[in-house]
Amino acid sequence: MGLLTVNNHVFAVLPLVPPSYLLLRLLLNYPQFSLTESISSQLVTYVALAILGFSLTNQLVPSIKAYTLKRGIRGKDLGKKGTSLGENPIPEALGIVPGTVFLICMILAQVLFASTNPEKLLDCNSALLAICFMLFLGFTDDVLEWPWRYKLILPTVASLPLLCCYKGSTSIVMPIQMRSLLMVDNEVTLLGHMLGYLITIDTETNGKVVNLGIWYLFYMGMLAVFSTNAINIYAGINGLEVGQAYVIACAVLVHNLYEIANHSENAENHLFSVMLMLPFCGVCLGLLKYNWCPASVFVGDTFCYFSGMTFAVVGILGHFSKTLLLFFVPQIINFLWSCPQLFRFVPCPRHRLPRFNGTHMIPSTFPCKPSEFRWIKQQGEATECPNMTVINLALQLLGPLTERDLCLVLLSFQALTCLGALICRHYLAGFFFEP
Ligand code: UD1
Ligand code: MG
Repeated sequence: MGLLTVNNHVFAVLPLVPPSYLLLRLLLNYPQFSLTESISSQLVTYVALAILGFSLTNQLVPSIKAYTLKRGIRGKDLGKKGTSLGENPIPEALGIVPGTVFLICMILAQVLFASTNPEKLLDCNSALLAICFMLFLGFTDDVLEWPWRYKLILPTVASLPLLCCYKGSTSIVMPIQMRSLLMVDNEVTLLGHMLGYLITIDTETNGKVVNLGIWYLFYMGMLAVFSTNAINIYAGINGLEVGQAYVIACAVLVHNLYEIANHSENAENHLFSVMLMLPFCGVCLGLLKYNWCPASVFVGDTFCYFSGMTFAVVGILGHFSKTLLLFFVPQIINFLWSCPQLFRFVPCPRHRLPRFNGTHMIPSTFPCKPSEFRWIKQQGEATECPNMTVINLALQLLGPLTERDLCLVLLSFQALTCLGALICRHYLAGFFFEP
């Protein structure tokens, strides 16, 4: 198969090409961008921090993995069951390395921000607090295995410092096609009156602007819960957790750099997001090297929670939470498809990751009666039902794949949806909103 022949390093560098191109164009200071001296020096510093993040993670993972192994924080590679690789204990929770290195990079960046942008210090510190809290929660989860209720409550608490210092608008602009649901000819509709108990419709704008107030803050709190858990449940094959975070981070960078280049009124917040996303890409790449198939380390819930919260932070403080959700389309589909199992309408085994048949990955299943769950099964009378994840769905659609190819297919899907999201956000928005 074609994918097998392409070098892993080529795949690793590919997502970095679009943001690097935009960054170079910005830094070469084309006259039409007229970048101020301060912005370009900040961008160069963040690139330097990304390189530092990559090299520190790259160097530290091999030495820290010996410590986690020694303390019994390890797992079996279930995707290699039955082979000698499947019997080796693999060090777990190595997300602690990129997480800590990322925090070091952020503290160094803060030193720069303190002099050039003192008003951003509050944002910076609340971001650090939220990410640090989630890193702590993730690591303790890998060691202590928290019940699900804690995994849902604690990210909400961790997002509170962010919401407290959120100074942006709580209003949204309604899509043109939906405004008539709320107001017609300057008259509030019945639905508008009913919703008026919860939200404030700006009658001056004929239903164009709606202030969601406290609900907007609630939505942003839920974004933190969603992004942390969505990455964690879209996991289980080597390279997927870090790979998806890395691809999303590159897409976020493209969005930020494009907005900065176009002198968006929100450019300062996008620059703040670049400050987080560049070192984040660096540390992800450093970890991906060891987590790529065949993995010598597992990233653990530590990495899933740390990365999810980092995205929530940039979405909230960068004021582009809705665009961020567009980059999470595979995770949203995986969550929706998983709901029957997550809410126990359908049995949910401890692990839903695909099964290894000796050469390839095939969908994992749970036992059921022939008459049960016919809507999920490919053969109606089967006594095994495939687990409801996008990973298994890909295998049902494409047939058995090697672990590396499966990961590449899922990451390509992630990259395609991110590309689609960028096109939607920058070119199709005019269909739903006035230019
Ligand atoms: C989530 C998923 C679970 C999935 C697991 C794998 C839900 C509700 N939970 O659980 O279905 O099986 O993630 O990450 O969807 N592992 C591998 N290869 C990998 C990565 C992980 O074999 O590339 C195995 C290892 O045994 C590792 C374990 O998964 O020790 C980690 O699982 P953990 O993160 O504790 O699972 P959850 O996050 O609870
Ligand atoms: Mg996990």
